[in-house]
Amino acid sequence: MCGIVCYVGKQKAKPILLEGLKRLEYRGYDSAGLAVQNGPHIDCFKAVGKIIELEKKINDLEIEGASGIAHTRWATHGEPSEINAHPQTDQEENVFVIHNGIIENFYILKRKLEKSGATFSSETDTEVLAHLIARNFDGSLQEAVRKTMTQVEGTFGLAVIHREAPGEVVVARRGSPLIIGVGKDGNFAASDVAAMVRYTNEVIHLNDNELALITEDQVSISTAQAKAVTRAIEKVEWQPEDAELNGFPHFMLKEIYEQPETARNAMRGRLELSEGVSKLGGIMPVWDQLKECRHMVFVACGTSYHAGCVGRYIFERLTEIDVEVEIASEFRYRKLNFPPNTFIVAISQSGETADTLAAIREARRKGARLLGIVNVVGSSISRETEAGIYNHAGPEIGVASTKIFVSQLVILTLLAVLLGRHQKLSLTEGVEAIKALSNLPDLLRRVLSQDNHIQAIAEKYYCCNNWLFLGRKYEYPIALEAALKLKEISYIHAEGYPAGEMKHGPIALINPDMPTVAIVPQDSMYEKMMSNIQEVKSRRGPIIAIATEGDRKIRELADEVIEVPPTLEYLYPALTVVPCQLLAYYCARFLNRDIDKPRNLAKSVTVE
Ligand code: G6P
Repeated sequence: MCGIVCYVGKQKAKPILLEGLKRLEYRGYDSAGLAVQNGPHIDCFKAVGKIIELEKKINDLEIEGASGIAHTRWATHGEPSEINAHPQTDQEENVFVIHNGIIENFYILKRKLEKSGATFSSETDTEVLAHLIARNFDGSLQEAVRKTMTQVEGTFGLAVIHREAPGEVVVARRGSPLIIGVGKDGNFAASDVAAMVRYTNEVIHLNDNELALITEDQVSISTAQAKAVTRAIEKVEWQPEDAELNGFPHFMLKEIYEQPETARNAMRGRLELSEGVSKLGGIMPVWDQLKECRHMVFVACGTSYHAGCVGRYIFERLTEIDVEVEIASEFRYRKLNFPPNTFIVAISQSGETADTLAAIREARRKGARLLGIVNVVGSSISRETEAGIYNHAGPEIGVASTKIFVSQLVILTLLAVLLGRHQKLSLTEGVEAIKALSNLPDLLRRVLSQDNHIQAIAEKYYCCNNWLFLGRKYEYPIALEAALKLKEISYIHAEGYPAGEMKHGPIALINPDMPTVAIVPQDSMYEKMMSNIQEVKSRRGPIIAIATEGDRKIRELADEVIEVPPTLEYLYPALTVVPCQLLAYYCARFLNRDIDKPRNLAKSVTVE
């Protein structure tokens, strides 16, 4: 949600900032802007729409200056417009600030500032920051920002430049990610490493309530209370080409195709076939308590929540742990009362989702232990949990999550196998699980080989305005995830239902214009699913079935069949989700949607 990128160095700032913004566009894309400083002179440009609009505006302009700040916005306060785009400035145009997050006491501060003569030009909460920093400036930009941090409530990742502090960028964070990049010819800061990996893979994570003064050759970090902080530089494993399309028309398709490799990366070095067990170094700090744990709560949002829902069934099958799954934004408002030794497992690709962060903070207050399953190394959730497991999936750029879902299912299975082997799971069952996991990448490739067939099905049905997705047990969360994918990127209305619930309402919707996608692999729910499919058939609803290879019975009922290879019941979801992703992708493509940047959505939702 919104992206920040900053540079101070020897090279011209404009192309570096624009390049960084493009890498961040997936985080927010309703307007963008940048400010470049050259001595006491600051050039600021903004545009509504995608980064390309800003680029068109400034492409032919010679903008001198080797330091600057840039922002891509996802509107919260004030509609997307040039006035509301960042950077925001004070009325004397001394200070230019970009900001992710929400200043909660902005209204009170704004009234106070107005009373003392400030005039505001935008509807944003960010403008308050510009006015405050300008007033607090007394020769040191760093001190002005520090003072401002004590005056504002809410969340921020911010970056600021001042006319009288050339060659300096000050960044600060409270609740919104900010990472500093240490380069050879200059230094960077961004809300996401994707903006910097082209220039450096050496980063420093800023913690909440810290600020940093960044110059061409120096980074100095301190707390809001002016205590100096020394923090080691970390290396990020992402490569610049991870964030490129490499010949694919969209990141979403590229990421769908990366899934065999993503599954492999989630398992790399973690399988021990002879013992029928997994090795997960990241949870060793809490292993003694974890192996005794009998109650877990998975908290997550969006696609990560659906992975958690599949995970619950996997844990039920492989362990003796009772698992609840909670949507993070609801969880924190529950009356929380955990049995002793309860582990909360936060599942999050970005590791920055505000609702998930808030949920784990609340759980910690109530005495629960915290684990994270996170993709972004060093992200807030990874740092606020006691231990965890990284996905090692590289960046996911498409707003609609795909490869991370499969990766999360693999990790949840690895964790369940590890814990299960200390509980009820036999060696034979452990070995069976590890074998099936190692075959998963090949099976995923087999599903992907049906791309053309799935595209043809999408072409036949993309004009239908309403879709129903049905599944049972392991496949019920896949029905939810499939419906979410279709809505997110094609804007077609879709519902995911547990098939047994259909007779209690959704069956009233069935008609020849409403396709039902039935997720019906040959698992323990197969016969029950077949009866539900019959019910759709007898009401003349078109049926697209996702079924196991060689299933003849389903061909008599379904109008279309997409096959997945056979595997263990609890690993089917990692396969059946792939045709659903491709169906959504091709429907969106036939409808000419902006697949990687669907309207109103953002990749990482850092506001509640
Ligand atoms: C946003 C994204 C979804 C994602 C969800 C949770 O809504 O658009 O694709 O599943 O956030 O994100 P997380 O990073 O916590 O997994």
